[in-house]
Amino acid sequence: MRAIPSLALTLLLALQGCTEDSKPSGNAAEGDAGRGRLVYLAQCTACHAIDPAKDGPLGPAVKGSSRALLEAKVLRGSYPPGYAPKRNTAVMSPQPQLTPSVPDLEAFLH
Ligand code: HEC
Repeated sequence: MRAIPSLALTLLLALQGCTEDSKPSGNAAEGDAGRGRLVYLAQCTACHAIDPAKDGPLGPAVKGSSRALLEAKVLRGSYPPGYAPKRNTAVMSPQPQLTPSVPDLEAFLH
């Protein structure tokens, strides 16, 4: 049971290292779908389906999620103004440490 979280952490640290190396500062607009896929597999698929177009064991399908939705839900546990959530529950904990990965997640989900 301990191996999975530490694997996820190792992966995340490695990814954040890549993000810093390969992205000029101030250019957060362009995400990398390959990196986003790894973050998604490590951080999201406990609840969301491996195929983001499908509903997962706990979380709904998230394919096509906008930058605004990802920032609100993943980083703050909220929704953009006026957004109608797919579920009215509040099961998912915010993960503010994923701030550098939001552009990559967005690229992967589109
Ligand atoms: C602990 C389980 C869990 C994890 C881990 C999780 N989610 Fe969720 N997610 C949910 C559930 C359940 C919902 C439905 C709303 C709620 O209960 O919070 C949700 C809702 C969402 C929504 C809103 C969907 C909509 O349109 O209403 C997005 C976007 C989302 N998750 C993305 C992610 C991403 C990206 C990750 C990984 C960084 C992630 N989630 C990790 C369980 C999880």
